[in-house]
Amino acid sequence: MSKSTSKFVCQQCGYESTGWLGKCPNCDTWNSLVETVAQEISEKAVNWQVRSSDKEKTKPQKLSEIKTSVGQRISTGISELDRVLGGGIVTGSVVLLAGDPGIGKSTLLLQSAAEISGKKKQVIYVSGEESPHQIKIRAERLGVKNDNILLLPETNVERIIGELENWRTGELGAGTVPLVIVDSIQTLWTSDLSGTPGSIGQVRWCASKLLSFAKLYGIPVILVGHVTKEGGIAGPMVLAHLVDTILFLEGERYQTFRLLRGIKNRFGPTDEVGVFSMEGKGLREVSNPSEVFLSERKENVPGSITTCLMEGSRPLLVEIQALVVPTQLAVPRRVGSGMDWNRLQLLIAVLSRRARLPLGTFDIFVNVAGGLKITEPAADLAVALAIASAWADKPVDAKVCAVGEVGLLGEVRSVGQIDKRAKEARRLGFTKVIGSKEASSISAAMKLVIK
Ligand code: TYD
Ligand code: MG
Repeated sequence: MSKSTSKFVCQQCGYESTGWLGKCPNCDTWNSLVETVAQEISEKAVNWQVRSSDKEKTKPQKLSEIKTSVGQRISTGISELDRVLGGGIVTGSVVLLAGDPGIGKSTLLLQSAAEISGKKKQVIYVSGEESPHQIKIRAERLGVKNDNILLLPETNVERIIGELENWRTGELGAGTVPLVIVDSIQTLWTSDLSGTPGSIGQVRWCASKLLSFAKLYGIPVILVGHVTKEGGIAGPMVLAHLVDTILFLEGERYQTFRLLRGIKNRFGPTDEVGVFSMEGKGLREVSNPSEVFLSERKENVPGSITTCLMEGSRPLLVEIQALVVPTQLAVPRRVGSGMDWNRLQLLIAVLSRRARLPLGTFDIFVNVAGGLKITEPAADLAVALAIASAWADKPVDAKVCAVGEVGLLGEVRSVGQIDKRAKEARRLGFTKVIGSKEASSISAAMKLVIK
């Protein structure tokens, strides 16, 4: 296929050039030119478009008369994954599973493929990243023995679609409900463009071809996308507007927990979170995360307190730990692992000023146990109390769960969904939930829980 039909378009201002340029001459933005297929709209094409657009469809219609065409949902065989998808994957939809390299995307999808594939359900696993041999080794490690997972080691998107067509109409695919997994979108390339695989133009164009395939035959497609630092490879967010659903698999690589989060979902909620733990035999679903996160908690040790975070619609109890030691440095160290550093600084400032704790000569370390990340201010009170407890070297009552935002005046503020959080805390035996109702200020909270 001729490659002269592409052009480079600036994503900021729309400037077009025949070759790649590092800087757009029109708007001076760096690295903004993306290779795009130049479509010359011939008279023939326009006629075809007009003819093919059904006149009925283009007329204004009553909303009530429009038939919904949301396909049926197929369970992925992994209930935590189904939950995040909103009850399974919708036929004809395209799902992007994004995450850092090595976080477990391929593992999750291979496990799902093994769960759902059967005689009437085949899963085609297109692999551009690993050889069939490597996938086989992983499958053995996971204990997957399944004849209905078909591997397709190919990276050219035209050939992939060709093979999928052959399979669909051929003997193997006839009468089956399939699922296509593409691992990963960044390894695919199209002969329509000259850019290297993984460049923005290539990634978008390949994804849109797979998207048309999915919509045309109602076959669900899951794309794997690596999250990358700014660089030569396009990150998954360049596909954000194309795909129906975006899921992020996240966690610390060297810790066992993995959270699967929905970022966008045309067919379901985006506030669901799936929890997994990475083990020797792949990802295991964690249906009672709070218990797991608290399983290694030591009671009656200074500097430890439990809080309740909301991960989507799910309450999650986690332990916050703090260590306060006299500093050896001119400027004391403040380290927060699993939390925002600026938020930590702010809480230390509030503790120093409003609760009169002389923290200026102490190094302070805060850790969210289990490798979780705090993203909501509801954990403020727990972080502040953990620091106070560590400083005083007195343990917090083990039955306490602290939930509240701390303001600059030292006041404890209410947070959303407190009932759900309190219920989860009580379920796990925390009889004293401390929030804005129980303690109006951080000093009052300290008096309540640090004996
Ligand atoms: P992988 O699914 O290859 O990650 P991705 O596709 O997101 O790049 O997972 C790789 C990591 O998972 C690797 O560091 C090893 C670990 N792992 C386990 O701990 N247990 C297992 O059973 C498997 C298959 C992988
Ligand atoms: Mg992989």
